Amino acid sequence: MDVIETGASCMRHDAATLLVRCAVRGYYNTGKPRFPGPSGATHVRVVDLRSDTVTKPGPAMRQAMAEAEVGDDVMGEDPTVNDLQKIAADMFGMEAALFVPSGTMGNLIAVMVHCRERGDEVIVGDLSHLHIYEQGGSAQLAGVHSTTVTTRSDGTFDLKQLESKIRHGYPDPHYPRSRLICVENTHNIQGGRVLPLHFLQDVRAVADHYGLSVHMDGARVMNAAVAQGVPVATILQHTHTVSVCLSKGLGSPVGSMLAGPQDFISRAVRCRKALGGGMRQVGVLAAAGKVSLQEMVGRLEDDHRNAKAFALALLEYNPFLFGVEMAAVETNILRFQIKDPTLSPQEFCTRMSQVGEGEEEALGQGLQVLMYPHFENSIRAVWHLGISPEDTQLAIQKMQFVAFQHLNQKAGVH
Ligand SMILES: Cc1ncc(COP(=O)(O)O)c(C=O)c1O
Repeated sequence: MDVIETGASCMRHDAATLLVRCAVRGYYNTGKPRFPGPSGATHVRVVDLRSDTVTKPGPAMRQAMAEAEVGDDVMGEDPTVNDLQKIAADMFGMEAALFVPSGTMGNLIAVMVHCRERGDEVIVGDLSHLHIYEQGGSAQLAGVHSTTVTTRSDGTFDLKQLESKIRHGYPDPHYPRSRLICVENTHNIQGGRVLPLHFLQDVRAVADHYGLSVHMDGARVMNAAVAQGVPVATILQHTHTVSVCLSKGLGSPVGSMLAGPQDFISRAVRCRKALGGGMRQVGVLAAAGKVSLQEMVGRLEDDHRNAKAFALALLEYNPFLFGVEMAAVETNILRFQIKDPTLSPQEFCTRMSQVGEGEEEALGQGLQVLMYPHFENSIRAVWHLGISPEDTQLAIQKMQFVAFQHLNQKAGVH
């Protein structure tokens, strides 16, 4: 589905409306543009800011994978997986951890384990990945009912609203039973926002008061830890369980870590197997995961710095054309607006992805800069280990070139 929204019409209504009206891109169905540009662009460089999932393992990671000791992990005999799980549990301050194929499966297993009885319910943010982008797996596969709280622009939600969503009717047979609260850190749709520690503390207090559990979709929680300058365990002390992606900014080709108390992980092992996620000699992938946790966390700071540099460049170039809230650029995901209604986010992204007339002469080479139109008429660009400061400067030059051309066209200058 490719619905193109312009103007202020893409307002928030509810999650279903968001999906239909703001699906300016299918999450995974927008392929990489294959055309370099008008004829004859000879030297084309690609700066891919679509997602931090596009990273490829570098030489050190590939070597670790090639040399990994392996065994049958379904039998618990893969030493590299066991090592990775121990490293993750220690790092996260949790009793145990489990290597799972994806963030989506990690979240689904968490919901399945926390919400074990028919009629259990999970409370999620209406703009959370779990609610929007995971195909309703909680309902579809786990048989768990969801209710939503309104996600605020900083990724948090109102605690009073949260409390109002907790069901108090149990065991009256009319009502589901509230079991779990999910938070997302950093928040993807809201542009990599970092959840404040006091918010997590408050959510946990509500959960404790009503006997609920807290699960964090921490796909990018290492980015949050780096941005806040705290050990990740400081963040995770407020949650019962967490799912952390290795395959985003941390650069692994595959995999996520699910972590929590030992009894939670023992049950998670069973769910993973039922979902087809029991893998055999998977130490070749766990070896990459070890490199991610042990060597790739420090470099996330570079992504944050590059994202800020691009954001600043937008404002420096033309604050009447581009809108960015600098305080909201906390990690590696940037959301910005185009204030000129005659240049839609889709059109801007298309121009950024093509090598335009005269561009090679102006910039010294053809540049394809890939980014996506996003929620609420914005554009999303994501930094990762494949994007250097030099790539960022090139993306800035391209943005200036595209903006200059647009403004000239508008003014009738040829
Ligand atoms: C916040 C968040 N949670 C979960 C996921 C799912 O991860 P995966 O693609 O590994 O299933 C993503 C992926 O982008 C994400 O951004």
